[in-house]
Amino acid sequence: MKPVKVGVCGLGTVGSGTVNVLHRNAEEIARRTGRPIIVEQIGARRDNANCDTTGINVTRDIFDVVNNPEIDIVVELIGGYDIARELVMKAIENGKHVVTANKALIAVHGNEIFEAARAKGVVVAFEAAVAGGIPVIKGIREGLAANNISWLAGIINGTGNYIMTQMRDYGRDFDDVLKEAQALGYAEADPTFDVEGIDAAHKLTILASVAFGIPLQFDKAYTEGITKITPLDIVQADELGYIIKHLGIARRTQSGVELRVHPTLIPKSRLIANVHGVLNAVMVHGDAVGPTMYYGPGAGAEPTASSVVADIVDISRNISADYSDRVPPLAFAQDALDNNAE
Ligand code: HSE
Repeated sequence: MKPVKVGVCGLGTVGSGTVNVLHRNAEEIARRTGRPIIVEQIGARRDNANCDTTGINVTRDIFDVVNNPEIDIVVELIGGYDIARELVMKAIENGKHVVTANKALIAVHGNEIFEAARAKGVVVAFEAAVAGGIPVIKGIREGLAANNISWLAGIINGTGNYIMTQMRDYGRDFDDVLKEAQALGYAEADPTFDVEGIDAAHKLTILASVAFGIPLQFDKAYTEGITKITPLDIVQADELGYIIKHLGIARRTQSGVELRVHPTLIPKSRLIANVHGVLNAVMVHGDAVGPTMYYGPGAGAEPTASSVVADIVDISRNISADYSDRVPPLAFAQDALDNNAE
């Protein structure tokens, strides 16, 4: 059967993980998809020792990938706002489906990107943008489609949770652990995004949009990070029976949806208080199902690649059908923007 051809832009932690998983599990993926998926081209400024690109056309100009007529799906893994936006908009204009792990891009430019994708009849998929390897976007959009969701709350930054866990369990120094998280490939290119809550606010913006059917409104999120947490805060919380976790919380209120990210005291007995290290967890409350929780690795090469490849498989399964009509990337209520909280 005719293969689906993928172009990968960016060969950093997630890019190399994605190529490796697509190669290692090619047979299994082809069986599940009904057609083989091949990496036709990679656009990357430099090679990555963790990724064997033998036999793949590698270009230093990522725009070669979006302009390559052979490619069906462009996978944007370069990160950042501006070039990524240009790349994705060009890919859409050229009629390509897009998979991205870029939460900053989706949270800030998503409304414009999804409008362009809808007009062109292509899909922009972004499972990997939130909570790494946890299929929480599909969990909410598909698994909870019957529900009226009243709130969601989660640990959605792996780097921050890793730092707080190491500080609490081993008395380690904040900066040392941050360096380690960078070396492990967990942190953002600018780790300020992790420790000041910006990355979590990007992800919360996306989760809230999917859960409540509201437009992406990153600028409405109250954002506080973990940099003000001291070792003494952690010890005192512990003595009082609490664990400090950095949470993203979205809640339906009378005047709209409230979005906030900040450190929170959680009783030690609660399940989410026991989510440690780079693990993430997202709780979602639906009126029909009640409370649910999604748990797993929130960052790292292959966990994130797992979500990227799942989106590639999803699009590949439907590539001949009018997929964009059946599964809209984000479906907003007409009046959602007006009704949302100031
Ligand atoms: N820097 C992010 C985190 C990567 O630590 O959660 C995954 O989005």
